[in-house]
Amino acid sequence: MAAYEYETHEYDVVVVGAGGAGLRATLGMAEQGLRTACVTKVFPTRSHTVAAQGGIAASLSNMGPDHWQWHMFDTVKGSDYLGDTDAMEYLAREAPKAVYELEHYGVPFSRTEEGKIYQRPFGGHTTEFGEGPAVQRTCAAADRTGHAILHTLYGQSLKNNAEFYVEYFAIDLVMSDDGACTGVVCWKLDDGTMHVFNAKMVVLATGGYGRAYFSATSAHTCTGDGNGMVARAGLPLQDMEFVQFHPTGIYGAGCLITEGARGEGGYLTNSEGERFMERYAPQYKDLAPRDYVSRSMTMEIREGRGVGPEGDHIHLNLSHLPAEALAERLPGISESARIFAGVDVTKEPIPVLPTVHYNMGGIPTNYWGEVLSPTKSDPNAVVPGLMAVGEAACASVHGANRLGSNSLIDLVVFGRAAAIRAGKVVDPETSNAPLNTASVDKAFDRFDGLRHAKGTVPTAELRLEMQKTMQSDAAVFRASKTLAEGVEKMTAIAGKMDDLSVTDRSLVWNSDLMETLELANLMPNAMATIVGAEARHESRGAHAHEDYDKRDDKNWRVHTIAHVDGPKVTLSYRDVIKDPLTTEKEGGIALKKIAPKARTF
Ligand code: FUM
Repeated sequence: MAAYEYETHEYDVVVVGAGGAGLRATLGMAEQGLRTACVTKVFPTRSHTVAAQGGIAASLSNMGPDHWQWHMFDTVKGSDYLGDTDAMEYLAREAPKAVYELEHYGVPFSRTEEGKIYQRPFGGHTTEFGEGPAVQRTCAAADRTGHAILHTLYGQSLKNNAEFYVEYFAIDLVMSDDGACTGVVCWKLDDGTMHVFNAKMVVLATGGYGRAYFSATSAHTCTGDGNGMVARAGLPLQDMEFVQFHPTGIYGAGCLITEGARGEGGYLTNSEGERFMERYAPQYKDLAPRDYVSRSMTMEIREGRGVGPEGDHIHLNLSHLPAEALAERLPGISESARIFAGVDVTKEPIPVLPTVHYNMGGIPTNYWGEVLSPTKSDPNAVVPGLMAVGEAACASVHGANRLGSNSLIDLVVFGRAAAIRAGKVVDPETSNAPLNTASVDKAFDRFDGLRHAKGTVPTAELRLEMQKTMQSDAAVFRASKTLAEGVEKMTAIAGKMDDLSVTDRSLVWNSDLMETLELANLMPNAMATIVGAEARHESRGAHAHEDYDKRDDKNWRVHTIAHVDGPKVTLSYRDVIKDPLTTEKEGGIALKKIAPKARTF
């Protein structure tokens, strides 16, 4: 057994991760007087939320008529009918409140002439239950909305006495013998000391796992650390086969060009200069949902109408927009286009390509953020002491495809919901459960094994193999043959985790070891993704299967539940929640059960 000395910290709540969801949860917990620690591997304002550009969806009606019921309908349809209806209702209904709270906390939103929060159009957001024109629902702070939100939430959390543990890497969850979560084991990166956080509630807000792929808009820190910890605790991951490709990553560099660029009037063209989205989505054109636009772009390229010397990308045109509008509304992407594509957006189109952007799947939760471990007899069984929020979680509000700007609202609505729930179930007057030292020792044994790994494969080499395989075999379009090959390749790649070579054995700023721990987290994410994709014999949302090109609601309107143990993935399924929370009339609109229909735009 590996012997590491550690310091124990006692809190009511420990939040792991300091992005939008982690900070909103931290703030909500601290505001209620719960002793709250936020443990984060990067400085809070460097979390990936800082890169979120276009905005946050909420039916404020600042730019024209809107209703939360329309937002809910769009989210249900956008999810390709795989989202849980209760959670999607909660998201849309609570969104305006959550955004006004942000405004009152101090988020510097862009403003209309009347001083209201400025809202722009985004893909898939419509009026009149999908029958009316596009709606301006996405609240924006220029094209740096995530930056504005993150800095505000961090300041507010400090003001409310939340305690931050910065550059602490979470190794594993502490689990009691009867399956409750009671804390987390961490490694402090800058001095090599070890820390165990003992808490009544652990909230995982560790973000997505975009870095399982070769080209992603996600930061290099997006390594699915919470999902990895959950898988190792024997708990499931849900709907991992649904990986969103954002239509406009900069060709070659992968950096995000916000959908807000199309919201402000930008459009895509092929090598013939044609606005091809008019053919694929006659009503909403470039503002169709992302899965739709990414597939249309890929089809144009496949059919020989891509741009560039190799005909392998598409043009995003903004030069027809007034230079002042670009400077005011889209300053960040104008700069990114100049730096990463060498393009002046006032004169030339930006070369773009669908790029991995978001994981719809993650740790299954109910709409209070409580982690689920579904069983046959109880599909809604909750894991005591454990919550998950944000991209790490699968609530499930995005189902098979997320609408743009529904991510930032997911972060704050469910970060806030987790705090509301914790306020009810966490009793600050009681003492914490004693630490299960066997669980702590197990975490240190795994850590020590990787620290002293003496195999033959360097971490960076194995990571690249995984990323290339995922990129080619779990892509925008998938097919039985490539998925089967992908599963075989990934199983072999995951098997090589036992043959890793780590050369630096120190404990202080050991990036070799940290990247190895991150790879150990990415691997179960990648395995669950490709195995879940191979098994799903239909096309739905971001899962476009060439051999099963129709959605199959009879057999497949179910969530995939994946248990991952090394290279082995065991799948089961649970029903989608189809009933809304309420059916009462609100604002003159009665909520109807939303029946699946063909998704056209
Ligand atoms: O395009 C964007 O600004 C991204 C937004 C989102 O993913 O929600």
